[in-house]
Amino acid sequence: MSSVTVRVPAKVNVQLSVGPLREDGYHDLVNVFHAVSIFDEVVAKESEGITVQVNGKWSDQVPTDDSNLAIRAARALAKHAGRSYGAELVIHKSIPVAGGMAGGSADAAGALVACNELWGLGLPMDDLMEIAGDLGSDVPFSLIGGTAVGTGRGEQLSELPTGGTFHWVFALANGGLSTASVYAECDRLRAASDADVPWPTLNDSLMEALGTGDAYALGTHLSNDLQPAALNLRPELAPTLESGRQHGALGAIVSGSGPTCAFLAIDATHARDLAHSLTTTGTAHTAVAAHGPVHGATLI
Ligand code: C5P
Repeated sequence: MSSVTVRVPAKVNVQLSVGPLREDGYHDLVNVFHAVSIFDEVVAKESEGITVQVNGKWSDQVPTDDSNLAIRAARALAKHAGRSYGAELVIHKSIPVAGGMAGGSADAAGALVACNELWGLGLPMDDLMEIAGDLGSDVPFSLIGGTAVGTGRGEQLSELPTGGTFHWVFALANGGLSTASVYAECDRLRAASDADVPWPTLNDSLMEALGTGDAYALGTHLSNDLQPAALNLRPELAPTLESGRQHGALGAIVSGSGPTCAFLAIDATHARDLAHSLTTTGTAHTAVAAHGPVHGATLI
């Protein structure tokens, strides 16, 4: 095999409950991931060393040195297999960079699946999931996609059945937010308020809404404990969320650590109209309609 292509989705968190800061610098989460139809493509070609090129939107914001998560994923896979394999990785980006939609994690998951195939390793999903969890808290979810609840750092996953397709609009912001800095701001706000941080638990009403495919109910139960921190760092996101609600979104929330804002629509037509309204009113310079759940990293 001389070239392999993998398609990997973005995610939005429909519930992100953040527990107290742990000694290892992470937080225990209840993180309900939902994969949506905005995709990066990762192509892996035979080569001597492991390299990466990035093209498409925002490609200039992605590092191509050893800090690139797709390179780190390919290296980790080669190490796991115990051989010094090579691959030229080419990433076609559509997922916003540092946007709270797991773009870097998607590319890492794509590199794992692509190199597993390119190198003929045939490693089972369980092995890929283990390597993925060491690369980043969101990488295992990018492998499986669908809708799933993540506990621990977010890497321990249970798949959740959903009763239908949900339609979304994503308002993309100029410039990203670092995940670590949003968690740090969340800790700072909590310390300043002196309130107890409860242990995160799954919202049963949200589960029911997902299970029955009830977009109206899901809209009222969307929650994100990182949202106050993201809004403190990027105050201009508050009017963006409000504008989406005024245009009939069933729910409006910062996606993960932000700054992308996610709006739940009634159906595909409403999502298209909402995206159009958000851009024509100048609320967002780019608004993308998408649906979920969709499958995780897939060979095409
Ligand atoms: O796991 P990942 O490398 O994606 O995490 C990026 C950063 O986000 C971590 O360094 C940490 O600051 C924060 N984080 C956290 N708790 C989690 C997941 C991420 O504090 N459960």
